[in-house]
Amino acid sequence: MDDIPVALREIPKAKPKSSVNLVVVSVCLSALGVAALAAGVLFSLRMQHGQNATLATASPAPTTASPSPAAAAYDDTLLGFYAYPAAPASELISIVDDGSIKLRKAAAKAYREMAAAAQQEGISLVPISGFRSIDDQKYLYFEVKAERGQDARERAKVSAPPGYSEHHTGYAIDVGDGDVPATNLSPSFDRTPAYQWLKANAAHYSFELSYPKNNKQGVNYEPWHWRYVGDIQSLKTFYKARGGQNQSTVNSGTGNSGTVNSEQ
Ligand code: DAL
Ligand code: ZN
Repeated sequence: MDDIPVALREIPKAKPKSSVNLVVVSVCLSALGVAALAAGVLFSLRMQHGQNATLATASPAPTTASPSPAAAAYDDTLLGFYAYPAAPASELISIVDDGSIKLRKAAAKAYREMAAAAQQEGISLVPISGFRSIDDQKYLYFEVKAERGQDARERAKVSAPPGYSEHHTGYAIDVGDGDVPATNLSPSFDRTPAYQWLKANAAHYSFELSYPKNNKQGVNYEPWHWRYVGDIQSLKTFYKARGGQNQSTVNSGTGNSGTVNSEQ
Protein backbone atom coordinates (compact mmCIF):
# COMPACT_ATOMS: atom_id res chain seq x y z
CA MET A 1 0.00 0.00 0.00
CA ASP A 2 2.84 2.33 0.86
CA ASP A 3 4.12 1.79 -2.62
CA ILE A 4 1.07 3.49 -4.13
CA PRO A 5 1.09 7.26 -4.33
CA VAL A 6 -1.46 8.85 -1.95
CA ALA A 7 -3.23 10.60 -4.83
CA LEU A 8 -3.98 7.36 -6.40
CA ARG A 9 -5.02 5.43 -3.27
CA GLU A 10 -8.67 6.88 -3.31
CA ILE A 11 -9.45 5.81 -6.86
CA PRO A 12 -11.25 2.58 -6.73
CA LYS A 13 -9.76 -0.04 -8.82
CA ALA A 14 -11.77 -0.98 -11.86
CA LYS A 15 -13.14 -4.46 -11.40
CA PRO A 16 -11.48 -6.75 -13.78
CA LYS A 17 -13.87 -8.16 -16.34
CA SER A 18 -14.55 -11.75 -15.64
CA SER A 19 -15.16 -14.12 -18.54
CA VAL A 20 -17.55 -16.13 -16.28
CA ASN A 21 -19.79 -13.03 -15.89
CA LEU A 22 -19.92 -12.50 -19.64
CA VAL A 23 -21.11 -16.04 -20.15
CA VAL A 24 -23.81 -15.58 -17.48
CA VAL A 25 -25.00 -12.33 -19.09
CA SER A 26 -25.20 -13.79 -22.54
CA VAL A 27 -27.03 -16.87 -21.27
CA CYS A 28 -29.50 -14.65 -19.44
CA LEU A 29 -30.10 -12.53 -22.53
CA SER A 30 -30.67 -15.59 -24.66
CA ALA A 31 -33.06 -16.97 -22.06
CA LEU A 32 -34.95 -13.69 -22.05
CA GLY A 33 -35.17 -13.76 -25.83
CA VAL A 34 -36.49 -17.32 -25.84
CA ALA A 35 -38.98 -16.46 -23.10
CA ALA A 36 -40.18 -13.41 -25.03
CA LEU A 37 -40.54 -15.48 -28.18
CA ALA A 38 -42.43 -18.20 -26.32
CA ALA A 39 -44.70 -15.61 -24.70
CA GLY A 40 -45.37 -14.10 -28.11
CA VAL A 41 -46.26 -17.48 -29.61
CA LEU A 42 -48.45 -18.34 -26.61
CA PHE A 43 -50.22 -14.99 -26.80
CA SER A 44 -50.95 -15.37 -30.46
CA LEU A 45 -52.20 -18.94 -29.95
CA ARG A 46 -54.47 -17.80 -27.15
CA MET A 47 -55.83 -14.97 -29.24
CA GLN A 48 -56.56 -17.34 -32.08
CA HIS A 49 -58.27 -19.82 -29.78
CA GLY A 50 -60.24 -17.05 -28.13
CA GLN A 51 -61.44 -15.79 -31.48
CA ASN A 52 -62.48 -19.25 -32.59
CA ALA A 53 -64.28 -19.82 -29.34
CA THR A 54 -66.03 -16.50 -29.74
CA LEU A 55 -67.02 -17.33 -33.29
CA ALA A 56 -68.29 -20.71 -32.20
CA THR A 57 -70.37 -19.52 -29.29
CA ALA A 58 -71.43 -16.01 -30.20
CA SER A 59 -75.03 -15.37 -31.20
CA PRO A 60 -75.51 -14.71 -34.88
CA ALA A 61 -75.10 -11.10 -35.80
CA PRO A 62 -78.39 -9.28 -35.98
CA THR A 63 -79.69 -9.21 -39.51
CA THR A 64 -82.11 -7.02 -41.33
CA ALA A 65 -83.49 -9.92 -43.39
CA SER A 66 -87.27 -10.16 -43.77
CA PRO A 67 -89.21 -12.49 -41.46
CA SER A 68 -90.14 -15.92 -42.78
CA PRO A 69 -93.23 -16.08 -45.02
CA ALA A 70 -95.13 -17.79 -42.19
CA ALA A 71 -94.24 -15.06 -39.71
CA ALA A 72 -95.07 -12.42 -42.27
CA ALA A 73 -98.44 -14.01 -42.90
CA TYR A 74 -99.11 -14.11 -39.19
CA ASP A 75 -98.15 -10.48 -38.71
CA ASP A 76 -99.72 -9.10 -41.83
CA THR A 77 -103.22 -8.26 -40.75
CA LEU A 78 -105.28 -5.20 -41.52
CA LEU A 79 -108.50 -4.29 -39.77
CA GLY A 80 -108.72 -7.91 -38.58
CA PHE A 81 -108.10 -9.49 -41.98
CA TYR A 82 -105.16 -11.62 -43.07
CA ALA A 83 -103.21 -10.90 -46.25
CA TYR A 84 -103.68 -13.28 -49.18
CA PRO A 85 -101.97 -13.28 -52.58
CA ALA A 86 -104.27 -13.59 -55.59
CA ALA A 87 -104.52 -17.11 -57.04
CA PRO A 88 -102.81 -17.49 -60.44
CA ALA A 89 -105.28 -17.46 -63.36
CA SER A 90 -103.97 -20.86 -64.48
CA GLU A 91 -105.27 -22.40 -61.23
CA LEU A 92 -108.82 -21.12 -61.65
CA ILE A 93 -111.76 -22.74 -63.40
CA SER A 94 -115.34 -21.62 -63.79
CA ILE A 95 -118.21 -23.09 -61.82
CA VAL A 96 -120.93 -21.45 -63.94
CA ASP A 97 -121.72 -21.74 -67.63
CA ASP A 98 -120.95 -18.12 -68.51
CA GLY A 99 -117.50 -18.36 -66.91
CA SER A 100 -118.09 -15.41 -64.58
CA ILE A 101 -117.49 -17.20 -61.26
CA LYS A 102 -114.23 -19.06 -60.75
CA LEU A 103 -112.59 -21.10 -58.03
CA ARG A 104 -109.34 -23.01 -57.72
CA LYS A 105 -109.59 -26.40 -59.40
CA ALA A 106 -109.90 -28.50 -56.24
CA ALA A 107 -112.44 -26.13 -54.70
CA ALA A 108 -114.42 -25.95 -57.96
CA LYS A 109 -114.65 -29.73 -58.18
CA ALA A 110 -115.77 -30.03 -54.55
CA TYR A 111 -118.30 -27.21 -54.95
CA ARG A 112 -119.84 -28.81 -58.05
CA GLU A 113 -120.19 -32.12 -56.26
CA MET A 114 -121.74 -30.38 -53.26
CA ALA A 115 -124.24 -28.41 -55.36
CA ALA A 116 -125.21 -31.57 -57.24
CA ALA A 117 -125.77 -33.45 -53.97
CA ALA A 118 -127.88 -30.57 -52.63
CA GLN A 119 -129.92 -30.52 -55.83
CA GLN A 120 -130.62 -34.22 -55.38
CA GLU A 121 -132.32 -33.25 -52.14
CA GLY A 122 -134.27 -30.35 -53.66
CA ILE A 123 -131.91 -27.64 -52.41
CA SER A 124 -130.78 -24.92 -54.79
CA LEU A 125 -127.26 -23.71 -54.04
CA VAL A 126 -126.43 -20.68 -56.17
CA PRO A 127 -122.89 -19.30 -56.40
CA ILE A 128 -122.78 -15.52 -56.00
CA SER A 129 -119.07 -14.70 -55.88
CA GLY A 130 -115.93 -16.80 -56.07
CA PHE A 131 -112.40 -15.69 -56.92
CA ARG A 132 -111.93 -11.91 -56.76
CA SER A 133 -108.88 -10.00 -57.95
CA ILE A 134 -107.24 -7.29 -55.87
CA ASP A 135 -108.87 -4.73 -58.20
CA ASP A 136 -112.32 -6.25 -57.70
CA GLN A 137 -111.78 -5.92 -53.97
CA LYS A 138 -110.51 -2.35 -54.34
CA TYR A 139 -113.88 -1.47 -55.80
CA LEU A 140 -115.80 -3.36 -53.14
CA TYR A 141 -113.89 -1.82 -50.29
CA PHE A 142 -113.05 1.75 -51.36
CA GLU A 143 -115.70 2.66 -53.92
CA VAL A 144 -118.62 1.23 -51.99
CA LYS A 145 -117.23 2.73 -48.77
CA ALA A 146 -117.16 6.16 -50.41
CA GLU A 147 -120.63 5.75 -51.93
CA ARG A 148 -122.04 4.82 -48.55
CA GLY A 149 -119.97 7.29 -46.56
CA GLN A 150 -118.61 4.53 -44.32
CA ASP A 151 -115.44 4.84 -42.28
CA ALA A 152 -112.64 2.28 -42.65
CA ARG A 153 -113.67 0.12 -39.69
CA GLU A 154 -117.34 0.17 -40.53
CA ARG A 155 -116.59 -0.95 -44.09
CA ALA A 156 -114.26 -3.68 -42.80
CA LYS A 157 -117.13 -5.32 -40.95
CA VAL A 158 -118.55 -6.43 -44.29
CA SER A 159 -115.74 -6.15 -46.80
CA ALA A 160 -112.03 -6.95 -46.58
CA PRO A 161 -109.54 -4.36 -47.82
CA PRO A 162 -107.90 -5.24 -51.16
CA GLY A 163 -105.17 -7.83 -50.64
CA TYR A 164 -106.91 -9.16 -47.53
CA SER A 165 -109.94 -11.05 -48.82
CA GLU A 166 -110.29 -14.83 -48.73
CA HIS A 167 -111.82 -14.43 -52.18
CA HIS A 168 -108.33 -13.70 -53.57
CA THR A 169 -107.30 -17.26 -52.77
CA GLY A 170 -109.82 -18.89 -55.11
CA TYR A 171 -110.96 -21.09 -52.22
CA ALA A 172 -113.82 -18.90 -50.94
CA ILE A 173 -117.32 -18.73 -52.29
CA ASP A 174 -120.49 -16.82 -51.42
CA VAL A 175 -123.52 -19.05 -51.75
CA GLY A 176 -127.20 -18.10 -52.03
CA ASP A 177 -130.47 -20.01 -52.01
CA GLY A 178 -131.93 -20.09 -55.52
CA ASP A 179 -135.40 -20.35 -54.03
CA VAL A 180 -134.98 -17.41 -51.64
CA PRO A 181 -132.80 -14.88 -53.52
CA ALA A 182 -133.95 -12.03 -51.27
CA THR A 183 -131.67 -13.46 -48.59
CA ASN A 184 -128.55 -13.26 -50.77
CA LEU A 185 -125.59 -11.83 -48.81
CA SER A 186 -127.83 -11.23 -45.82
CA PRO A 187 -127.63 -12.71 -42.33
CA SER A 188 -131.16 -13.99 -42.92
CA PHE A 189 -129.63 -16.49 -45.34
CA ASP A 190 -129.12 -18.67 -42.27
CA ARG A 191 -132.88 -19.26 -42.17
CA THR A 192 -132.98 -20.71 -45.69
CA PRO A 193 -133.06 -24.40 -46.59
CA ALA A 194 -129.77 -23.87 -48.47
CA TYR A 195 -127.99 -22.71 -45.33
CA GLN A 196 -129.48 -25.49 -43.23
CA TRP A 197 -128.33 -27.99 -45.81
CA LEU A 198 -124.83 -26.46 -45.93
CA LYS A 199 -124.57 -26.49 -42.17
CA ALA A 200 -125.32 -30.20 -42.13
CA ASN A 201 -123.36 -31.22 -45.21
CA ALA A 202 -120.67 -28.75 -46.27
CA ALA A 203 -117.95 -30.44 -44.21
CA HIS A 204 -118.39 -33.60 -46.29
CA TYR A 205 -117.13 -31.54 -49.22
CA SER A 206 -114.44 -29.78 -47.14
CA PHE A 207 -116.18 -26.43 -46.99
CA GLU A 208 -116.39 -24.49 -43.74
CA LEU A 209 -117.90 -21.19 -42.69
CA SER A 210 -115.24 -18.47 -42.56
CA TYR A 211 -117.10 -15.90 -40.48
CA PRO A 212 -119.37 -17.53 -37.93
CA LYS A 213 -121.06 -15.41 -35.28
CA ASN A 214 -118.57 -13.73 -32.96
CA ASN A 215 -115.55 -14.76 -35.00
CA LYS A 216 -112.25 -13.59 -33.54
CA GLN A 217 -111.54 -11.41 -36.54
CA GLY A 218 -114.46 -9.20 -35.64
CA VAL A 219 -116.02 -9.58 -39.08
CA ASN A 220 -119.80 -9.53 -39.21
CA TYR A 221 -121.54 -12.88 -39.34
CA GLU A 222 -121.54 -14.13 -42.94
CA PRO A 223 -123.56 -17.36 -43.22
CA TRP A 224 -123.15 -17.25 -47.02
CA HIS A 225 -119.32 -17.14 -47.14
CA TRP A 226 -117.69 -20.60 -47.23
CA ARG A 227 -114.11 -21.62 -47.83
CA TYR A 228 -112.57 -24.82 -49.09
CA VAL A 229 -110.01 -26.56 -46.82
CA GLY A 230 -109.86 -29.94 -48.54
CA ASP A 231 -106.21 -30.08 -49.62
CA ILE A 232 -102.89 -29.20 -48.09
CA GLN A 233 -102.55 -25.92 -49.96
CA SER A 234 -105.92 -24.59 -48.88
CA LEU A 235 -105.36 -25.82 -45.33
CA LYS A 236 -102.01 -24.01 -45.17
CA THR A 237 -103.54 -20.91 -46.69
CA PHE A 238 -106.04 -20.54 -43.87
CA TYR A 239 -104.41 -22.26 -40.90
CA LYS A 240 -100.63 -22.05 -41.13
CA ALA A 241 -99.09 -19.89 -38.42
CA ARG A 242 -102.40 -18.58 -37.23
CA GLY A 243 -103.78 -21.62 -35.41
CA GLY A 244 -107.13 -21.38 -37.16
CA GLN A 245 -107.90 -18.39 -35.02
CA ASN A 246 -109.98 -16.77 -37.70
CA GLN A 247 -112.29 -19.76 -37.60
CA SER A 248 -113.09 -20.16 -33.93
CA THR A 249 -116.04 -18.52 -32.32
CA VAL A 250 -116.19 -17.21 -28.79
CA ASN A 251 -119.84 -18.19 -28.51
CA SER A 252 -122.66 -18.33 -30.96
CA GLY A 253 -125.38 -16.80 -28.88
CA THR A 254 -125.14 -13.19 -29.92
CA GLY A 255 -123.81 -12.19 -33.28
CA ASN A 256 -123.90 -9.29 -35.63
CA SER A 257 -126.67 -11.01 -37.47
CA GLY A 258 -128.98 -8.02 -37.20
CA THR A 259 -126.66 -5.93 -39.36
CA VAL A 260 -127.37 -5.72 -43.05
CA ASN A 261 -124.33 -7.06 -44.87
CA SER A 262 -123.16 -6.64 -48.38
CA GLU A 263 -119.98 -7.80 -50.05
CA GLN A 264 -121.01 -6.12 -53.25
N1 DAL B 1 -116.88 -10.18 -47.07
C1 DAL B 1 -115.58 -10.74 -46.83
C2 DAL B 1 -115.11 -10.39 -45.45
C3 DAL B 1 -114.59 -10.31 -47.86
O1 DAL B 1 -114.76 -9.20 -48.38
O2 DAL B 1 -113.66 -11.02 -48.11
ZN1 ZN C 1 -117.55 -13.77 -49.41
